Amino acid sequence: MATLLLLPGDGIGPEVCAEVRRVAAALVPSLVVEEAIYGGASYDAHGTPLTDEVRDRALASDAVLMGAVGGPNWADAPRHLRPEAGLLNLRKAMNVYANLRPAYCFEALAGASSLKTELVSGLDIMFVRELVGGVYFGEPRGIDVLPDGQKKGYDTALYTTSEIERAGRVAFELARGRKNKVHSAEKSNVMESGLLWKQVITELHAREYPDVELEHILADNCAMQLVRAPKQFDVIVTDNLFGDILSDAAAMLTGSLGMLPSAAIGDPNKPGLYEPIHGSAPDIAGKGLANPLAAILSFEMALRWSLKEVEAADRLLAAVKGALDAGARTRDLGGELSTVQMGDAVLCRI
Ligand code: NAD
Ligand code: IPM
Ligand code: MN
Repeated sequence: MATLLLLPGDGIGPEVCAEVRRVAAALVPSLVVEEAIYGGASYDAHGTPLTDEVRDRALASDAVLMGAVGGPNWADAPRHLRPEAGLLNLRKAMNVYANLRPAYCFEALAGASSLKTELVSGLDIMFVRELVGGVYFGEPRGIDVLPDGQKKGYDTALYTTSEIERAGRVAFELARGRKNKVHSAEKSNVMESGLLWKQVITELHAREYPDVELEHILADNCAMQLVRAPKQFDVIVTDNLFGDILSDAAAMLTGSLGMLPSAAIGDPNKPGLYEPIHGSAPDIAGKGLANPLAAILSFEMALRWSLKEVEAADRLLAAVKGALDAGARTRDLGGELSTVQMGDAVLCRI
């Protein structure tokens, strides 16, 4: 029997994960859903955002779904013990190097986007964000005191050939099953790691994927193009930092940050890590206002990618579409529904 490990985390994390639990029970009753403490909640209980025990349980499960971590309570914790460090350590331990972040506009929500309806109607972008390298993990990093008493804060943006290649491969493979087009976004005009990124993607393309259309784009221009004419994109492959920023921007094209799921994958025989791309939303936490669809759609990705329950995934996607078509809207989408009511709207269509 397959096991899904739920890591609700902090803020709205437990609220949106509760809806995933209900959906999972209705849709795939045979799935064993376990839960573990993680993030700020784990820091409070155990002095660390990710215990070895929870890490090992994650590695031993078939898929892991997390809510969100972080919040003002832990803003002053030491960097390596902050909830966000727990998330980065989990991604690294699971070696989920490719983060698939689909920015898909449900037809019923085209009018909820901050862009004109015709610009986003039919939008379907897949980001492949490199997730376990780059400036998020590069060494050295730190805050040092200089001889004159000033401080210097620094990070290292670092990529190796193989790290770029494996992310690129995921993007080209995905593109073949979609519109066959990849944009590779970097800052090769400014950064050495960006120059290497461009070279490696160019060579990989020529060697293994000449049938796929490839365009290189500078990350700042990519941000601009995403809000100017987003439908020109199919797959966008980019580094850890640019992927974080560009996918948040793309979220608003689909109506709300509360809509965007993600799948972090690596070795196909190992568990994937599924996470909504939004954070713990401290401003609305505990009020039952969070949109659970990003978490529910992350579960849909877990069904598809890790649990091989494609039929159940299709049913869930149809239920979400049905709920949105019928006008179900949480507050972020301009509606009145609570988190649980949005969960109900999906559940009654499963
Ligand atoms: P955030 O994504 O938590 O919130 C940004 C805005 O979007 C807020 O106004 C929030 O209310 C809204 N929002 C987010 N998710 C929503 C949802 N499901 N439904 C309705 N509205 C939603 O970003 P932030 O405020 O910059 O960060 C808060 C904390 O979350 C920080 O500690 C940050 O590090 C953390 N964070 C965690 C993750 C994660 O766990 N994967 C991701 C991003 C940020
Ligand atoms: C995300 C978040 C995380 C990131 C933080 C919380 C570490 O913003 O998943 O998008 O930057 O990767
Ligand atoms: Mn982010």
